[in-house]
Amino acid sequence: MGRQIRREEALVLAHYYAPAAVQAAADFVGDSFALARKARASEKPVIVFCGVSFMGESAKILCPEKEVYLPVPDARCAMADMASAEEIAGMRARVPDLAVVTYINSSARLKALSDVIVTSSNTVKIVSRLKEKNIYFIPDRNLGAHVSAQLPQKHFYFGRGYCPIHDATTAAEVRAAQAAHPEAPLLAHPECPAEVRAMAAFVGSTEGIISYAEGSGAPAFLIATEEGTLYELRRRCPKKQFFLTRESFVCGDMKKITPAALEAVFRGEGTPVEVPADVAAKAAAALERMLELGA
Ligand code: 13P
Ligand code: SF4
Repeated sequence: MGRQIRREEALVLAHYYAPAAVQAAADFVGDSFALARKARASEKPVIVFCGVSFMGESAKILCPEKEVYLPVPDARCAMADMASAEEIAGMRARVPDLAVVTYINSSARLKALSDVIVTSSNTVKIVSRLKEKNIYFIPDRNLGAHVSAQLPQKHFYFGRGYCPIHDATTAAEVRAAQAAHPEAPLLAHPECPAEVRAMAAFVGSTEGIISYAEGSGAPAFLIATEEGTLYELRRRCPKKQFFLTRESFVCGDMKKITPAALEAVFRGEGTPVEVPADVAAKAAAALERMLELGA
C-alpha cells in the first residue's frame, strides 16, 4: 500500500494502447520511446504509468529517485519473458563481436543482461550506431527481421519471441480489409508478421503510424496495430477514416488499466514499483545507452 498522492505531484503517462478514458486522463500519451524519455525528463516526484509492467519498471530504472506506480501491476506484456539468461549467455560464448540488443518489451532481468535497449521507433538508428558486427536481437523476431532488412551491414541472430496480438494478424485479413476499403493504405506495426509487413505502405511504431496518417493525403487507412491507437488517430485526424485489419485487435493486459485503477493510485492504494538494486544498475546502463544513441 502506498501513500495518498496529490494530483499535482504526479506525472501521469499513458501508452496509446491504454483505454481511451485513461488516455484522456493522462498528462502525456505516447509510444514506448517517447514515454521513457518523458519519464526521464520529468521533475515531478511521482510517475503513474498507465501501461504494462515493463513500462513502469523502465521508468523506475531510469528515475530511481522517483516513486513510480503502475495502476495495474499485473498488466503484463506477453513478450517480456520470451528470452532467457541461458540463451544470452550461450550466444555471448559462441559469437564474437556481438551486441545483445533487447526490445524494451522485456523484463528488467533481461535488460540487465543486454548491451542496449531499443524500441520500435529507434532500433534502426541505434543498431546502425553500434560498433559490433553481430547483433543478437531479442525477444521480438518480427521487429528483428524488419530491422535487419534495413541494415545489411550487420549480421543478425534473432530471438524466438513475438507479440501474440500483432503476430495473429494475417495477409488474408489484410486482403479482406483492402477489398472493403481499396482506397486505404496499410499502416502496420513492426510486431506484425512478415506477410503483413510486406503489404504495408508504412511500417513503424505507434507514434510513427499516427504521424504518417497525419502527414498523408489519403482519406482512409487500414491499421495493423492495437485498437487503442485509434483514439489518437481520430483525435489528430478527425476528417480521416481508420479501419483495423482484424475485428478484435486488442491487448487484454493494456485494457486492464481502467480510470478506476488510476484513481485508486491517488487514494494510496497503489504499490510503488521496485526493481532489485543489482538488476536496476545494469538495466539502467542499457536504457541510458538507448536514450543516448536514440536521441
Ligand atoms: P510502441 O513501440 O509503438 O510503443 O509499441 C509498444 C508495444 O507494446 C507494441 O505492441
Ligand atoms: Fe506486449 Fe503485444 Fe500487448 Fe504490446 S500489444 S504490450 S507487445 S502483448
